[in-house]
Amino acid sequence: MKVTFKVFRFNAETDYLPHYDTIEMDVKEDEVVLDILNRIKWEHDGSFSYRRSCRHGICGSCAVKVNGRSTLACKERMVDMIELFGNELTIEPVSKKRAVKDMVVDKADFWKKYETVKPWLEAEIDEHPAMENIIPPKEAEKLEEADYCIQCGCCYYACPVVEVNEDYLGPAAFEKAYRFTADVRDNAKKERLEIVDILGQGVWDCVKCYECAEACPKEIDPIGKITKLHNQIFEEGVAKSNVATRHAVGFKRSIKKHGILDEGDLVLYSEGFGVVKHMHEAFEMFKKGKIVLPWNMPKSKNLDEIQKLIKSSSTVKF
Ligand code: SF4
Ligand code: SF4
Ligand code: FES
Repeated sequence: MKVTFKVFRFNAETDYLPHYDTIEMDVKEDEVVLDILNRIKWEHDGSFSYRRSCRHGICGSCAVKVNGRSTLACKERMVDMIELFGNELTIEPVSKKRAVKDMVVDKADFWKKYETVKPWLEAEIDEHPAMENIIPPKEAEKLEEADYCIQCGCCYYACPVVEVNEDYLGPAAFEKAYRFTADVRDNAKKERLEIVDILGQGVWDCVKCYECAEACPKEIDPIGKITKLHNQIFEEGVAKSNVATRHAVGFKRSIKKHGILDEGDLVLYSEGFGVVKHMHEAFEMFKKGKIVLPWNMPKSKNLDEIQKLIKSSSTVKF
């Protein structure tokens, strides 16, 4: 199969702007993206730079983007890429703005934030135990696939909040925080939850766009873990009253009361006096019937059923 590759090139030490090299290659049936990176270096330009180590999808170092899609170069089969995107493929680093040399990115901010959640077990464990420290299978199940994270960073670089808020810890750090808050051996659950509860850096700033889940090559679903952290923050009594936690409480309160969302009440409940800054939007929403006056708020005809569902499914007391 003949494929035309457009390959991102940049050297932070010598280049002001990046450029793309266009390379045509015959791709073999059994090749993965990493084989193509190797061949670019070995057959076309020895200065071409990229990271790789294990070649088995476990070290997380070979993450790149192919036609904008995050992937592990050693795991992604070329036939699948061609089937998905055709015979013209663009290979880029996972974050162009962090590129140091071609596919190699500076992961300093990723690691700094990752470290914030203390990505290690805090436990009093006998260093010379007579038997293994076994977690009961039922408890181990709660970790789900959180333990499979290989710190490739694909989710982090795909997250739009990371790009606009430099304090935001990002999906990989939250995923790892959950890996330990769900571990019965861990003694630092509250401490970790306090870290991810902080407005600006924590889980409340996630906009639930699902880009992280889409980008993760290990199918770990970081946003699912973020939702679990939201619940744990309430369950462990860590939640502070702020606009984000009141939004969560107000949402449930409204559904319980009406069976449908009262948007006006939700904003009022979440923002308190801060609601004044939304007056213009509120007026526009009122004109379009999106917000109604409290006495005109309709109720769902299945309100009884909805209230039963809320009662039976709520594990968290607000
Ligand atoms: S769902 Fe949240 S953490 Fe995931 S990419 Fe979107 S904003 Fe970031
Ligand atoms: S959650 Fe997935 S995408 Fe994010 S760092 Fe871990 S393995 Fe990579
Ligand atoms: S080389 Fe280790 S994950 Fe690809």
